[in-house]
Parts: sequence; C-alpha cells; structure tokens
Amino acid sequence: GRRCLSQHSKRSVAQFLQWKPAEKVDDVVVNGYVRSVRSMKAHRFVSLGDGSSLAPLQALVPVDQAEGVALGAAVRFTGSWVASPGGSQSHELHATKVEVLGPSDPKTFPIQKKYQTPEYLRTMPHLRPRTPVNAALLRLRSDAIASLTGFFANRAFTQTHPPIITSSDCEGAGEVFTLVPASESDVATEAKQEKEEFFRSKKYLSVSTQLHLEALAQSVGNVWTLSPVFRAEQSDTARHLSEFYMLEAEMSFVDDLSAIMDLAEDMLRFLGTSLFGSATVQELLSRPMQLGSDLVPSDVVRQRWEGLMQPAWPRITYSEAIDLLQQKSDLFSLKPVWGAGLQSEHEKYLAEHVGGRMPVFVTNYPRDIKAFYMREAQPLSSDNAATVECFDLLVPELCEVAGGSMREHRLEPLMDAMKRQGLTAARTSSDDDPESAKNLDWYIDLRRWGSPPHGGFGVGFDRLLSYLAGVSTIRDIVAFPRWHGRCDC
Ligand code: 4AD
Ligand code: MG
Repeated sequence: GRRCLSQHSKRSVAQFLQWKPAEKVDDVVVNGYVRSVRSMKAHRFVSLGDGSSLAPLQALVPVDQAEGVALGAAVRFTGSWVASPGGSQSHELHATKVEVLGPSDPKTFPIQKKYQTPEYLRTMPHLRPRTPVNAALLRLRSDAIASLTGFFANRAFTQTHPPIITSSDCEGAGEVFTLVPASESDVATEAKQEKEEFFRSKKYLSVSTQLHLEALAQSVGNVWTLSPVFRAEQSDTARHLSEFYMLEAEMSFVDDLSAIMDLAEDMLRFLGTSLFGSATVQELLSRPMQLGSDLVPSDVVRQRWEGLMQPAWPRITYSEAIDLLQQKSDLFSLKPVWGAGLQSEHEKYLAEHVGGRMPVFVTNYPRDIKAFYMREAQPLSSDNAATVECFDLLVPELCEVAGGSMREHRLEPLMDAMKRQGLTAARTSSDDDPESAKNLDWYIDLRRWGSPPHGGFGVGFDRLLSYLAGVSTIRDIVAFPRWHGRCDC
C-alpha cells in the first residue's frame, strides 16, 4: 500500500544493502546516482550510489526503460527487492519504473569508473564527493562531530561559538590573514590611508579561538568549540591548510597540565571506541585498495585506531625527548638541540619509538619557543632554562595533532611574558606599543577580576580525521581545501 511505499522510499543505498528479506518485496523506491551501466541482453545492469556506502546497489533495468540511465545521472528506480543468489550482493533491485531526475552526459562526466589520481580529483572539489571514498570521508567527519558533541555533553562542557573576526594573533606567529572589505581593497593606497578602517582598526581572521574561549571558561565553566580557523602559512605540506577546523576545549579551576592531557586523551579514546565499530570506519578499513593510491594501507590505519583506544598514552618531557633524540643523532638531518623546536623528523621518531601505536604527549617545552600565554613550569632540574606547562600530542607519520597548555592566569607574570615577547601591554607603558598589544588589553583584563588557574588544548580536526581515515594528505579530507596558491571553488 501507499504507506509501505513511502517507508521504503526513505531507504538509503546503505540501508538497502543491509536489508535481506526472505521474500521479494515489491514497490520499493531507491534514489541515487548512476555509477556504472553494463549492457546485457534484455537488461542494463546498473550500479547506483547515493553517498551512503562504498558498495553500490545493483539494479536490473529493462532495456526499453534504460533511456537516459547513464553514468552520473540522478535517478529514481521503483521495483522489487529480490534475492540474487548468484550475484555479488545478496539482493538486487528489479526496476519496473525508471525516472531520470537529473540527466548526465556520461562522456563528459569527470568522475569515471576507473582509478583517478587524487591530484586530478582535487581540481574539481565540487564533484569529488561523488567518488564513493570521498563521500565516506564526509560521513566520517559527521560521525566524529556527533561523537565528540556527546563526549562533551556527558561532561557538562558548554559548546560555544567564539568569533572568527578578531583583533589579535593568538599564536603570535604572524600567520594571520587581515580582513579588508572589498570596497576598501580597491581604493588607491593614498585614498585608503585617509579612509577609516571598517572596524576602525585592523582585524584578522582567527588563528585559534583560545583567547576568547578563556573568557567564556571564566563565566560558564568548561567550554569547547569546533571552529574554522585561518592561517596564512606558506608551507606546502600534507599537513597544512589555510582554512581548517580546530576543536578547542578550555577548563577552569584546574591545577596542572595532567588534567588537560587527561581530557585530551579521554576525548580521543572516546572518539576511537565510539566510532571504530561504525559502518563508515569498517568500510574504510575494508575498502579495496584500487580506490586510491594516496590511502594508507588499511592494516596501518587499523593500528592507528587500536592505538587511540589503548589506555595510558606515554608522556615525556621535551628535555627527555631531546636526550632520546640526541642518542640517535645520526638519524636526523637537523641535530636535536635543547632550546630549538622539534623538527618533523624528530617528532616522527618520537611518535614511532616512544608511542608505538599510541599517541605521545611531549610536555614542558622551552618557554622561549612557545606562545606568550603559557604558564611557566616549576624548574624540573636546576640546570634547565625556563620551560612552560604545555604539551604537543604526536602521532606516527602525521606528527602533531594537538597542542595545549596551562594558561598564565596571574596578571604580573602574564605582562612579563608579553614584554619578553615584544607584546608590551598598552595600558601600562608608552605610546609606541605595537598595535597588537593594545588589542590584547581585554585579554589582560581577564586577569584583573577573578581569573582561576585554567588551561586547554586545540586539536587539528582535519589532521585528526586524515590520520584516522588513512588519507595521506589533509587536502583530501577537506571537501573544499584551501592552501597556499590554491582555492578552487
Ligand atoms: O598548535 P596550535 O597552533 O595551537 C593553538 O592554536 C592553541 N591556541 C590551541 C589551544 O590551546 N586552544 O594549533 C592546534 C592544532 C595543531 O596541533 C595542529 O594539529 C593543527 O591545529 N594545525 C593545523 N592543521 C591544519 N593546517 C594548519 N595550517 C595547521 N596549523 C595547526
Ligand atoms: Mg602547536
């Protein structure tokens, strides 16, 4: 009857593939895109996909109804769902009614049913998700967001929306994009100088929501956000984008860094255990290799998930890491020295040899190579220079997926740190302060009226997903990637 029909019409391809009735069922409806057409004597053998599964639905279409059923077309088939003992799938659709809802020219459709290189697919981000594996990556992202939202809700974290347009460069790395209205960018330079800035002073796209999250954490308690952030990094690597999503959490009334690391570890383990058994992850792990040579072998990807689900990830200090690396000095093109940042070859070594399958926390980096807001650590031994209470979380191949720290919550030490980094606080000193410092007045203000010890972290969400999906470059995990020199549609 009608009721039955409308119920069946809601089935996705994935749901059809799970549906194994003993008797044939008539009047079922499936919507999808034609992935391939094979000609038989009286029938066309059609594979349909709708982005819900890697495997297609197989349908038999009578030849006299097959007009317009061509690669790429959007179609609706009505027919019977019947067991197909000989076929590669347990059931198939015998179409009795065919509607071509959106025709396609199979000769020019850019997504052909053959191996197409990631480079080629990247030139057409608007069509790329029509490849089954790219659709699966979109589903993985959605599942991960749902899982993490549940994690934070269970712990009574408030989800917040900090701003994208900001006054300051949170990380102080000079990688901000400046925001200029189109009407101003076209004006000749001289005229521009006379004209007032849109927001009266320079504004940027956020590189991290952390500073605003700190303000929110001082009012509602523990907070988190998943927000787009922007970095004008010229690095042309498999790990860097100009626009990416960062998952950030900030906790108030925490005493030390171990609480921040515990949260990051619990969160990622929760993500691992809640998603590992999902249809999407299992599909990604069992996908046929010809789907793309830029996918990491699935046994390696499986180990990544297993590592994520293991308890008690190793935590070592930066100084211990340097000692370890110096013992293996021959392996590296850049020699590890205390006081310098870890190179990716160093991070790779640590992730692979200290963590095994598990991610590794490296803590307490030298103060002078980290951001101004980090709280100074108690000296670990008398001969060490100043370090800060911070961590980087490293995983094999990909290196840094997250960073976090205790924040300097006391007024005087924060201002000292800002002075050291050339961010002198405007209110307390002369007029020639850099503009960026004035823009941090509000941040300093937070320390004046009830600033408890607090800290948090930021996870590179797209990096994390590419690690867990086994996608070798971050450009293939993001639907519309932007990186230095490239921003297609
Ligand atoms: O280490 P980062 O710079 O840390 C912060 O921005 C802190 N304010 C976060 C916080 O404590 N709330 O960035 C965090 C993570 C990195 O570990 C890395 O995984 C990712 O963001 N990331 C990038 N991902 C893609 N493309 C880029 N250009 C990235 N830069 C950093
Ligand atoms: Mg970092």
